[in-house]
Amino acid sequence: MCGIIGYVGENQAAPILLEGLSSLEYRGYDSAGIAVFSDNKINIQKAGGRLSVLNQKTDNGKAVTGTVGIGHTRWATHGKPSDTNSHPHLSKSGRFAVVHNGIIENYIPLKNKLIEKGFEFVSETDTEVIAHLFEYYYKTDIVEAAIKVIGHVKGSYALGVLCSDYPDRFIAVRKASPMIVGLGENENYIASDVTAILSHTRKVYYLEDDEVVVLKKDSVKIYNIDKDEVKKQAFTVDWDVSAAEKGGYEHFMMKEMEEEPTAFMNTISPRIKNGRIVLDDISLTEEYIKNINKIFIIACGSAYHVGMVGKYLIEKTCRIPVEAVLASEFRYCDPIVTPNDLCIIISQSGETADTLAALKEAKALGAKTLSIVNVVGSSIANLSDDCIYTWAGPEIAVATTKAYSTQLAVMYLINIYFAEKLGTITPEQYSSLVAELQKVPDMIAGILAQKDKMQYCASKFYNCHSIFFIGRNIDYAVALEGSLKLKEISYIHSEAYAAGELKHGTISLIENGTLVIALATGKMLYDKTLSNVKEVKARGAVVLGVTTADMPDKEDLGDYLIELPDVNEMFLPSLTVVPLQLFSYYVASLKGCDIDKPRNLAKSVTVE
Ligand code: G6P
Repeated sequence: MCGIIGYVGENQAAPILLEGLSSLEYRGYDSAGIAVFSDNKINIQKAGGRLSVLNQKTDNGKAVTGTVGIGHTRWATHGKPSDTNSHPHLSKSGRFAVVHNGIIENYIPLKNKLIEKGFEFVSETDTEVIAHLFEYYYKTDIVEAAIKVIGHVKGSYALGVLCSDYPDRFIAVRKASPMIVGLGENENYIASDVTAILSHTRKVYYLEDDEVVVLKKDSVKIYNIDKDEVKKQAFTVDWDVSAAEKGGYEHFMMKEMEEEPTAFMNTISPRIKNGRIVLDDISLTEEYIKNINKIFIIACGSAYHVGMVGKYLIEKTCRIPVEAVLASEFRYCDPIVTPNDLCIIISQSGETADTLAALKEAKALGAKTLSIVNVVGSSIANLSDDCIYTWAGPEIAVATTKAYSTQLAVMYLINIYFAEKLGTITPEQYSSLVAELQKVPDMIAGILAQKDKMQYCASKFYNCHSIFFIGRNIDYAVALEGSLKLKEISYIHSEAYAAGELKHGTISLIENGTLVIALATGKMLYDKTLSNVKEVKARGAVVLGVTTADMPDKEDLGDYLIELPDVNEMFLPSLTVVPLQLFSYYVASLKGCDIDKPRNLAKSVTVE
């Protein structure tokens, strides 16, 4: 999705803006641009394609002088990727330059109105409406103009705005699209994502919807919709700068897979004290947990796949009905949610538009909401009744690995915590689960240490046109994630199927040499999945089996076999997924794909 950075200070703005934009590249984009005050004029430079084109055009920013500016990477929604459609957009007279993340839903009537008033549009974007609206409502006060503009637009926006009448400042506004203010010494920033400013400052303000902020080099003033000044508490971001750098790895994805054991441990260890799970972060009492009628787990993409794992786990361990729902479906399916239902919302970024909207819907229906979020201070974290943070640190690769891993970790904590309160596990089972949970990071590290096995498997199959993943129960939930990972970064067609369901249609796609990755880690269902493996082998499939080292008859499972350490079945998803992540990585690498920035995808999807 689009990225925003803004700078005001004593240094040259353009190189800082370009550096910030480069750390936002991972969000996904197809053009980039900057606007800087140079000699009391707004100098705009933009270019379609990769940021390197803009860097070249501006001599890495050196050709654009000035100490106040805004920058943007655009992920096209309204209008194709092109120089004209890239941001910043200028108002009619050139007085205002605007960068925008999000979507202005009522831009057509606004555009028609502005055309009637004599404004001309040069781009196909919804954003240009904002630039002209600023000019239309502006008298002498940019904050008042901003309040007027936000009173007329519908949709989501994070805006950075320069006005040529005030070359010592710029303003920013947000609604349902992420934006933070970074506070420095004689310099201040805005950014859509903390990673863009992490090398300059860790002190930040989180903006609320429809707050207008005016940034000068030595002051930051925030106003509400009534133009009253708002005082805010600054937060210190404790993410390590090096966590957002490649640190010698060829790709962020590999670095982040290697970080999985630490991220997992960082997520569970502060919440286990003297062998007991302590969830200080949440206000759910034992009485509340005992009265939960149903749990909804709501999320998108990989986070939804964690929800699927959660469904199988919580139903089995806690005996509470659980429905895992895609956020984009939940919001429009008129869900039957009652005040005795708990809605668990999962999101790495905490900003995914559909997930945020689903959270609002769940709250409106009276349910209690508990979020599992990675980005501190994000909209979903702020809005939910309770939030358990995953401590994965910044995740840069579009394809999630360590954040997924930490979301599973939180799911295990919740499951064991609830089960103990409900009395569905014995005190002995509780202690043994807590003890075993703490061994999972080392087991993940052990699998990562044998990554050459997956590199070898990838070398055998990277030319495949289609790859199927099968599994039952929790293995099916992990199969969904394995298949998504492969599709995302290697562009190989792939499907994940509940192993028993394949024969109801999809088996017709199996032919000589088709790769089927069979996950069979659960002891109860091993024989059932083995039968499904036999069915596909009889039709010519080559099978890569994933199972545990202690599984009897494991050799029958596949032509190639990946063995996982033996652990309580509850925690197996954390192990099963690792070879699948590695397999996708190596397949994509052998195919020469852009692993960290796969085509058409965005890390944080802030539009519907
Ligand atoms: C995008 C990403 C996925 C991610 C999904 C949900 O589609 O490419 O990797 O799982 O959004 O993101 P969230 O930030 O809500 O976890």
